[in-house]
Amino acid sequence: MSDSLSRRGFMQAAAAGSAFWSLQGSKTARSASTYVTDKPAVLGGRPAWTGNWPSWPQWDESWEPEILKILRSGRWFRGDGSGHIAHFETAWANLLGARRCLATASGTTALITSLYVVGVDAGDEVIVSPYTFNATYNAILINKALPVFADTDPTTWNIDPASIESRITDRTRAILPVHIFGLPCDMDPINAIAKKHDLAVVEDACQAWLAEYRGKKCGTLADLGCFSFQNSKHIPSGEGGAVTGNRDDLIDRCHAFHNCGRATGTFQGRGCFTRGSNFRIQHFQAAMLLPQIEKLVQETRVRQANADYLSAQLAEIPGITPARVPENSRAVWHLFPMRYDSEHFNGLSRVGFMRALRAEGIPSSTVYGEQYFDGMLDEAIASRGYQRLFGPKRLKDYRDSFQELTGNRQVCAKTVALSQTLLLADRRAMDQIAQAIRKIRAHSGELAKSA
Ligand SMILES: Cc1ncc(COP(=O)(O)O)c(C=O)c1O
Repeated sequence: MSDSLSRRGFMQAAAAGSAFWSLQGSKTARSASTYVTDKPAVLGGRPAWTGNWPSWPQWDESWEPEILKILRSGRWFRGDGSGHIAHFETAWANLLGARRCLATASGTTALITSLYVVGVDAGDEVIVSPYTFNATYNAILINKALPVFADTDPTTWNIDPASIESRITDRTRAILPVHIFGLPCDMDPINAIAKKHDLAVVEDACQAWLAEYRGKKCGTLADLGCFSFQNSKHIPSGEGGAVTGNRDDLIDRCHAFHNCGRATGTFQGRGCFTRGSNFRIQHFQAAMLLPQIEKLVQETRVRQANADYLSAQLAEIPGITPARVPENSRAVWHLFPMRYDSEHFNGLSRVGFMRALRAEGIPSSTVYGEQYFDGMLDEAIASRGYQRLFGPKRLKDYRDSFQELTGNRQVCAKTVALSQTLLLADRRAMDQIAQAIRKIRAHSGELAKSA
């Protein structure tokens, strides 16, 4: 349990957007103009924010009876799924407007399952966004396919649809866009390319619970969508995941694959008709997820309102560029990324900027680097299996192509991101974030010299 948020605290905090945090905010509130001339905290001035930020995860004692009920039942595994798991699957599908949902052990296993079910096989290629948590790469690699990176659009942090088509080969089987940080990808052109080349599309919506693209929820925009409920996520159960989709045959195949290949639904009576694994969720996890659905809905509104408000303020600061969201779409802000251009801050490095921000009481992170250089892909490329499946020439060209990802390189070099919990604080806290950045910029010459 968090130190700063009592057991009963989160519901009030989320609902009010929040009364709890606004009390904290008022302790440190000062007029906006003070900050620009104030000394930055890193140079000995007063920090812009001295309150606590909401901690994560949050829970409530009202969850306990259902969890105890499962414990005392001795039926902890999925079995036929009836009970908490089935309730959650129905509720999640309804919330998203999807026909079906299958809960899984994690987001990674949801992705592995989905790629397998849409037909990704050993020796295939999958076009994917490079700017993602490396589980997305791994889900392709575990299926013994090659993650082929399209470039990242530096204005959206997402896959640039214009960079997809040139990467299609006769081995390409699927496209795997990632709605990173809960920012919806531009799905219409992606789906159009997929249709033209007869490719499957699986959405990595692992950070995009309730994000919307042109009136439809992320995770319902392609063949299958994948979610994560890992501890840091907006709806966490420690570990957990889900696949959503509108086709019974695909979800039934997913069900079979995640349950050791056992037939279900459309395939009933066919025994173990497919390969598979054990990627099952437990009832305990579903019992934690069910009461968080309404919490997620309410908190998403708070994050969205705060992100809109903060984006409008930051867009006015030279050198800070918030993310662009496609028209008629809504992001859900698992992280709030901004592009930091140091030339507008007298050359103050990104690390120096983040250190100054930290001193103001505002934590931030650089998030992902160019992970394709980290070693996992070199290990795959060097392996006997990949050499056999793709051959040395394709793999050499593949490795060389990482250098062409100039949009992604820029994003990796310039991102500064705030965590979703900051967006659960109140309006005043958003003002403090913007003011802290203005203050740092006003003193950036001095800061750059002292760094
Ligand atoms: C974009 C993305 N894809 C996939 C995953 C994998 O999900 P999990 O950690 O539940 O396996 C994550 C988790 O952080 C993620 O952020």
